[in-house]
Amino acid sequence: MNIEIFLGRFHPLIVHLPIGFILLAFLMMLWSKKSDKGSFNQAIRFALLLGAVSAVLAAFLGWLLAADGGYDENTLFWHRWLGVGVAILTTIAWLLHTGIIQSNPWPLSAALWGSVLLIAFTGHFGGVLTHGSNYLVQYAPTFVQQMFSADNSGETEILLPSQPDSIAVFQHLIEPILNSKCAGCHSETKKKGGLVLTSQEGILEGGEEGEVLVAGNAYKSALFERVILPKNSKKFMPPKGEPLTFAEIKLLEWWIDAGASFDEQLTANPLPHDMKALLLRNFQVDVSRKPHYERVQVTQASEAALDKLSAAGFKAISLSADNHFLEVKLVESSISLDQFKSLLEVQEQVTWLDLAGKGITDPMLQVIARLPNLTRLKIEQNAITDKGVQALEKLSHLEYLNLYATEITDKSLASIKEIKTLTHLYLWQTHVSEEAIDALSQERPALVIDKGFEFNNIN
Ligand code: HEC
Repeated sequence: MNIEIFLGRFHPLIVHLPIGFILLAFLMMLWSKKSDKGSFNQAIRFALLLGAVSAVLAAFLGWLLAADGGYDENTLFWHRWLGVGVAILTTIAWLLHTGIIQSNPWPLSAALWGSVLLIAFTGHFGGVLTHGSNYLVQYAPTFVQQMFSADNSGETEILLPSQPDSIAVFQHLIEPILNSKCAGCHSETKKKGGLVLTSQEGILEGGEEGEVLVAGNAYKSALFERVILPKNSKKFMPPKGEPLTFAEIKLLEWWIDAGASFDEQLTANPLPHDMKALLLRNFQVDVSRKPHYERVQVTQASEAALDKLSAAGFKAISLSADNHFLEVKLVESSISLDQFKSLLEVQEQVTWLDLAGKGITDPMLQVIARLPNLTRLKIEQNAITDKGVQALEKLSHLEYLNLYATEITDKSLASIKEIKTLTHLYLWQTHVSEEAIDALSQERPALVIDKGFEFNNIN
């Protein structure tokens, strides 16, 4: 048994007494100004005495309760010292009224007015401590809520970078939850259950009962288990204050199941559908990346440029009526390098380029490398080599690359690795080795690599 906490828990009950007594003394004082002064004097003095004694008792019990911890430090500071102020001021008011402290009437009035004001503020901070800052207006009409701009979702305020690519899972999503809902009791200074949740080391170290995090298995991690227990369970976390919201629980679960990495980016691994929906709904993060040609806009290619292109043997079509990006296909075979360079006439506009089986040579890839908005490139069935592919490193928006039936070897993968936006790669019938492909997929798990069928093994 812990006698201090036991006594401390009477604080919420006792605090109502000074509020009542002091308000009563205050009202009697106001009233007696209008009517017969003498008749209230004894009653005011008695109410002040009761108010002072109960205020001191309430402050004492509050002090004991606060030692239990888990409260917001800042709010607690104000509640504690304003409460102490009420006890002191009421005692002074009583001393003035009895004449133990001699003075003219105005200090007594001031002390009483002051006590009532302090009580209002102390009570407010006390309410915030136990019920959270939006308790008062949670069920208020919408316009009142807007006036207080009350965010009553209970969701932790999370500030996220606007680009999903720059969101770090732990730093931007998990840490803020732990900081707002757990740090009150699990910091270096509090360390309840021997557990620190405000640092990576603390989380990995665990608490008195051992490890709290089993990477890859949320249901075996105390860190997760404790927040999904029934709320009346003795082990439910947090035992005081706002519980985790559904979205926060899902995030925590997903983070642990995905390996509990402390430095991974949100887009490092493919996200399950429910997580995508949750991120969009609760955090306005749209992780379903739109293709490059839908995110940026270009001007329309000129008639003259399109004429030159077609004269050289290309066919160009706009992606849609209101999107000026072009899908370009080579229809003539074995055109000259000069003719090939007419592609540069529509340098900005080309986003899909199909050159499959048209006698493309390495020097032409230098020209392709100068197409800044290229997202799909089909150069399969051409006699191109590692030397040509090297130039493609510069294509910073390329998502699809088909190199099927070309002369490339493992060397090309080093260049291809530099294309960070790539999502699909076709390497069927090339000289690229199995080992090099395995190494690449290790490094880029989100990249889909198609190596086709192994004809070599079927004899
Ligand atoms: C109001 C204080 C308080 C808050 C807030 C709080 N905890 Fe705790 N926590 C405790 C106390 C006290 C213990 C030790 C008693 C126990 O094990 O239940 C504890 C123990 C734990 C343990 C077990 C540690 C061990 O090995 O013994 C875990 C895990 C835990 N808390 C997780 C959390 C998480 C996650 C949050 C935030 C969602 C949280 N706690 C918020 C008070 C708190």
